[in-house]
Amino acid sequence: MTGKIDLSVELCGVKFSNPFVLSAGPPTDDVEMVKRAFEAGWAGAILKTTSVESEVVELVYPMIAGLDFEDKKVIGLGNIDLISEHHIDEVEGRVAELKSEFPDYVVGASIMGARKEDWQTLVRRLEAAGVDLIECSFSCPQGSMGEKPGAMVAQDPKLTREVASWVKAAAKRVPIFIKITPQVADIVEIGRAVKESGADGITASNTIPALMGIDINSFEPHPSVDGKSTYSGYSGAAIKPITLRVIAELAKHVGIPISGTGGAMTWQDAVEFMLVGAGNVQFCTAVMRNGYRIIDDLKDGITDYLQDKGMSSVSKLIGLALPKIVMHPELPRDYKVVAQVNRKTCVKDDLCYIACRDGGHQAIELDEERLPVIDEEKCVGCGLCVTVCPVWDCITWKRVEKG
Ligand SMILES: Cc1cc2nc3c(=O)[nH]c(=O)nc-3n(C[C@H](O)[C@H](O)[C@H](O)COP(=O)(O)O)c2cc1C
Repeated sequence: MTGKIDLSVELCGVKFSNPFVLSAGPPTDDVEMVKRAFEAGWAGAILKTTSVESEVVELVYPMIAGLDFEDKKVIGLGNIDLISEHHIDEVEGRVAELKSEFPDYVVGASIMGARKEDWQTLVRRLEAAGVDLIECSFSCPQGSMGEKPGAMVAQDPKLTREVASWVKAAAKRVPIFIKITPQVADIVEIGRAVKESGADGITASNTIPALMGIDINSFEPHPSVDGKSTYSGYSGAAIKPITLRVIAELAKHVGIPISGTGGAMTWQDAVEFMLVGAGNVQFCTAVMRNGYRIIDDLKDGITDYLQDKGMSSVSKLIGLALPKIVMHPELPRDYKVVAQVNRKTCVKDDLCYIACRDGGHQAIELDEERLPVIDEEKCVGCGLCVTVCPVWDCITWKRVEKG
């Protein structure tokens, strides 16, 4: 396809020049940093969650611990950070400064309050400062102000509806997004509570409460603050599947604009978020790990992808995968697949053989050249061998009609 690809998206009336936005976190907690991000090409930024001046925010350090697996560093990131130490009086000034220097970029503010009056004050002051949208953190894993420790507003549908309606009532001009937690039994119930409150959109979803690890020599949990720790907010690549499920459920069953966050590291992840219903995609851990510069890859990658697909606009991706996501009883049952091995690309690491022998259906034998041979009678097509094989396209599916 030739011609210009349109990367712009619109969410609740707010226009973004591309779908890539910095989420509330360390990369948005300093005005000069946000300016650098805009200069690099990010379409918008949600400033780190702020509160009224009387709120005491006392951070502890170190606040970050990574989850490594085998030789891969930071497949997930845990933090025991809190909201910003910068209160509304400072953030109002930052909003005004950013909007005057970068009028075409989206400046969002994230807020958290302990009382109705605080939530509403924050909204009024930020609107007056010129913010483009307001996101409400109902989902900080360190607990919400005014609630019992560890409880998040978005774990309770009634509270979610009530607090979101206070915020919405105070907003005259800007859309209100409610940032929810995936840590609930029924995400659709929470999504419906947000919709009933009149709020405009949902940010799905925040970090997930986790315990990052224990030092097996000292018995200290990570990140260790002088020997002790607490439950972290878990983010990064490891949580992407949970976010995808949350966005898909909300898009299918609630029908409300969604800003996706939680585990997007690459442009491909962003495409997946949009395919299940996100209108734009927020990034935090990827930027903390690899810098604002990833925006070049995000924009180039998605542009090439759309070009290859013959699509002229990124917004056409939104929701395209949803009809293919069904409940288990609706899955097709009239065919089966069996694995087939490409003998030329096999690296003879035996992983498929071992996995099938001890975790599957004993359908793989090794021949005299130590190459895997599939027993099609025994193979049920479970997918384990394809999943463990380190070589792309070495083991593939063959479709076999039943009966
Ligand atoms: C160190 C750290 C601090 C964060 N602080 C906030 C915050 O103040 N408010 C908020 O709504 N989310 C906060 N988040 C959550 C991020 O905005 C984001 O939703 C989450 O990390 C999942 O996205 P990711 O996997 O791209 O990082 C924070 C995340 C990290 C890692």
